[in-house]
Amino acid sequence: MPDPAAVIAPSLLSADFARLGDEAAALERGGAEWLHVDVMDGRFVPNLTIGPLVVGALRPVTGAVLDCHLMIEEPERYVAAFADAGADILTVHVEACRHLHRNLQQIRDLPRRAGGRVLAGVSLNPHTPASAVAHVLELCDLVLVMSVNPGFGGQKFIDAVRPKIRELRAMVRAAGLATRIEVDGGITVDNVAAVAADGADTFVSGTGVLRSPQYGRDYAAAIAAMRRAAEAAMAWRTDSAHK
Ligand code: DX5
Ligand code: ZN
Repeated sequence: MPDPAAVIAPSLLSADFARLGDEAAALERGGAEWLHVDVMDGRFVPNLTIGPLVVGALRPVTGAVLDCHLMIEEPERYVAAFADAGADILTVHVEACRHLHRNLQQIRDLPRRAGGRVLAGVSLNPHTPASAVAHVLELCDLVLVMSVNPGFGGQKFIDAVRPKIRELRAMVRAAGLATRIEVDGGITVDNVAAVAADGADTFVSGTGVLRSPQYGRDYAAAIAAMRRAAEAAMAWRTDSAHK
C-alpha cells in the first residue's frame, strides 16, 4: 500500500462568504486539491453555518474535492442531501452517531455525483480516544482528528491530540489500510510539520491559509509553504518499518 502524499484542505469557514465562489476558485488555483466545508447545526456545536444548498452552489464553480465535515446531530438525516448536492467526502462525528457503523455504511452506499461512491470519514473530538474507531476502521476512508473543540475557526491548536495521531497512524498501518488521517483546527505553517511527523497526511487550515499574517491574500504561497513543511516531515512514509 503506497503511503499518501500530503493533501492541504483549506477551510472555507475563514473565507469571505459574500464571495464564496471566488474564494473557492482562488484556493483551487492556489493548489488546494480539497476544500473543507464546515457544516454546523447549532446543536452538536454552538454555531450555525452552511447546508447542502451552499455545497450545491459551490459544486459547479470548483473541481476541487468537497470535503464536508458534518458537525451535526443525526447526520443520517442529511447525508443523501449533501451527496446529491455534490459532496465528495462526508465526515460524521463519533460523538454524534448512535449507530456509527450503520451511518458509515449509509455514506459509502451513496453515489457521488462525479461517479463512484461518496467517501466516508469519522471525526474524533479532542477528548475521544483513537480506540473509538477501532471496530469501524475498514469503513473509514478517513479519520479526522479535531485539534480544537469544533464550532469555530481561529482557535489554538490543542497539543494533547498529538499522541492520538500517532496511535491512529499505527492502527492504519497495522491494518494495511489506505485510510487518510486528517487533522483539523489551529493548523498553521508553523505547526503543520509536527502533526505531519506524527502521522497525519491531510491538513485542514482555515485561518492558517486564508488569514495568514505571513502570506496575506496569497493563498498559493500559504498552501505551498504548508505542503513543503508537511511533506518534509512525513518521514513515516518511507520508514523501513513500513516497507
Ligand atoms: C472548527 C472547524 C475547522 C475550522 C478550522 O470547528 O472544524 O475546520 O474551520 O479553522 P482554523 O484552521 O482557523 O482552526
Ligand atoms: Zn472542520
